[in-house]
Amino acid sequence: MPSIRFRLNGVETDVDVESDRSLLDILRGQLGMTGPHFGCGSNECGACNVIIGDRAVAACDTPLWSVADKDIITIEGLGSAQKPHPLQRAFIAEQALQCGYCVSGILISAAALLMRNPSPSGEEIRGALDRNLCRCGSHNRMVRAVLRAAAEMAAR
Ligand code: FES
Ligand code: FES
Repeated sequence: MPSIRFRLNGVETDVDVESDRSLLDILRGQLGMTGPHFGCGSNECGACNVIIGDRAVAACDTPLWSVADKDIITIEGLGSAQKPHPLQRAFIAEQALQCGYCVSGILISAAALLMRNPSPSGEEIRGALDRNLCRCGSHNRMVRAVLRAAAEMAAR
């Protein structure tokens, strides 16, 4: 079985499994990255999103072979309790979540947006989060939180 190598949260990572298995399966089951959540399993909810390059991608719909030599960031690589990302601070400040199930994927989509566009408009944020489902209806507070994080990052 060929080994697939990629950088996961900045760490060179090799896995020896069938290369057509989903990235989400390997992240959660083999690599201990349980931040990306399983929701729909069919690229429709965004709960499993990770950043590949500078794009948010549904890990459930990404075969392992396609990430060879790529840079992957999961929510575990975005920030930590000790050193949270500005988006994580802003989501707490705006209380932009309820059950939290969708939030890892939403933070990832927002972080990928800020990598490409550090000063997005509300409309651009809504567009970037359009494919992330939140059944708790927290989207308006999430948009406010992303605006808040972008302002904080711009002021640094
Ligand atoms: S679980 Fe991957 S998009 Fe829903
Ligand atoms: S906070 Fe519950 S699904 Fe989004």
